[in-house]
Order: sequence, then C-alpha cells, then structure tokens
Amino acid sequence: MNQDTALASYDDFAPESGDFLTEVIDGLSGDPKTLPCKYFYDECGSDLFQKICKLPEYYPTRTETRLLSDCAPDIAASIGAHCRLIEYGTGSSEKMRIVLNALEQPAAFIAVDISREHLLQATEALADDLPGLDVHAVCADFTKPFELPAIKVAENGKAVVFFPGSSIGNFDQEGAVDFLANAASLVGSGGGLVIGVDLKKDTAVLNAAYDDAAGVTAAFNLNLLTRINRELNGTFDVSSFSHRAFYNEDLGRIEMHLVSSRVQTAKVGGKPFKFIAGETIHTENSYKYTVDEFQEIGRKAGFRPVQAWTDRDNLFSVHYFETAA
Ligand code: AVI
Repeated sequence: MNQDTALASYDDFAPESGDFLTEVIDGLSGDPKTLPCKYFYDECGSDLFQKICKLPEYYPTRTETRLLSDCAPDIAASIGAHCRLIEYGTGSSEKMRIVLNALEQPAAFIAVDISREHLLQATEALADDLPGLDVHAVCADFTKPFELPAIKVAENGKAVVFFPGSSIGNFDQEGAVDFLANAASLVGSGGGLVIGVDLKKDTAVLNAAYDDAAGVTAAFNLNLLTRINRELNGTFDVSSFSHRAFYNEDLGRIEMHLVSSRVQTAKVGGKPFKFIAGETIHTENSYKYTVDEFQEIGRKAGFRPVQAWTDRDNLFSVHYFETAA
C-alpha cells in the first residue's frame, strides 16, 4: 500500500503531450475539415458536459442510471464473487457505485483515465470512502493497449470492464470493434464487459438531445475553438461559427459540426486555414445501435453476448458480454 495515499496502486502511462497540435492541423487540413472530439474535455468542456448530462433533452444519463439500478443485481449474478472491476474513464461515480454496490465481495476497483488530476481526485475520494476496497488508479489512454496493475487476488474472480455513457458511440463501427477487442484481451479468458449503449430512436428526440434549447451543447461544441485559440495560439473568431447537430439516419449517427458563417481564415500554430461561408468542421459522431446491431459489434470483438437490458421507453441499453472461458 502506498503510504501517501489511500490508493492500493497508481500507474502512469500518460502519453506525451504535443499530439493536440498535430491532430488539429491534420484535421483542419482534410476535406471535409474535422477535429477530434476527445479534445472537447478541457476544464470548461468537462463542466459543460456535466451540464449536458442534466439537461431535460439529454435522456442518456438519467435513463442509463435508472436502468443500471434495475439490472445491477442480474449483472452481479452473472459476474460472480471477487471480480476486479475496471472502469474506463472516471465519469459519474454514481453509475460505478450502483454496479460496485451490487457485486459480491469485489476484489478491486481499477479506474483508468487519461486526465491525471481528475483520476487521482476521484479514486482517492473513493478509497477514503470505501476503506475495505482496494482502489487502483491507472493514468492511460484507454483507447490504446495498456497494462493492468498486478493484483494478487486470493480467489479467482473475473476481470470486468465497465464502460458506461455510450461513449462507445463516439467511435465509428470499425473503431468500436478494435476498441472492444483491446478490452477483450485486457480482461482475458472468462472476463466480462458491462457497457451502456444509446439506442436508435425517433429523429426528433435525438436531434433535441444534441441541440438543446438552452444552448449548452452549442457552447460545448464551440469551446473546442476557444481551447485551440488558448492552447495552440489559434486565431478563430469563435463568434463567426455556429453549432449544428443532426441525426444522419443512413449512417445511424448524430453528427456535430461547427459552421462558418462567412469567408474567413483562421491560423493554428501559424498555419492558415481558409473557410468559405457555410463550410463546416465535423467535430463529433455519436453512433446509435439496436440491441442486435451492438451484440454483433461485441461478437466481432471476441465477446459473447450474455444479456442486454433496455428501459421501457426503449431509449437506452445496457449489455453484459463475456469472453470465452
Ligand atoms: C461522451 N459522449 C457519449 C457524448 C455523446 O452523447 O455522444 C458526448 C456529447 N456530445 C454532445 N452531447 C454529448
């Protein structure tokens, strides 16, 4: 046990910074222009995302939380005793605690997050709160392979990844399969995956969830340009861009864009990027799946679907998958 903290272990595999500039220049050099959605989450972006999760139009957070409360006993029964629960992204501790509380004598909780500060804050608070549980923190980009801490467990419980929030929807289908294949090899044979996935539904409901009346999602999207200006010496005139979000039914995804209202040039890292009026920067995709479609994604990644739960309005799904024993 580390003496300065209540954490059982802390491993730091955080990638070198410097990727941000390269990825922004690459994205803005493309046709159409794009920006990676992972850069939404600076301090302001993370605060705005917390606000999005509480919006009346943004049903996923509250629906998944309720659904997890309902299905946690079934999930826990499938997982069995002495599991190591591995959470990707230290998001809402409320959802993680619902699962953790239902588990029979969990052997350890391992949080994996790229944001060091947020990770340490969340895991140290959890370790203080639950002194009987071994809490481990791993600072890593969980979209790439990384190593789990070597945990000596007396009993042979499962390793189970918990990935709530439908963040899997922010990958395209091929990326989702690759990502889940990494999770499958991380948990090893007989391991599990508990994952929250947003469902396909009425276009108007989806459009409202990503273009709320209070303009919080618009601010979240536009904050990416503010962040580029601040951190990469960008010269975007943020007021001449606007938020656009819509459900692309053919591709089964919400698309978020930033639309230039006029002809303009913005520089990033000294490099100029020209925009015509109406040109967009594609900033995010959020794929929606039926239960069958997502089970197929899981199979392609090496998982066997065990069970899936949906709420009574068919808004959201929670899946439990396992790898072969
Ligand atoms: C984090 N992710 C699952 C959110 C989503 O619904 O795709 C991000 C988000 N973008 C706009 N609103 C929420």
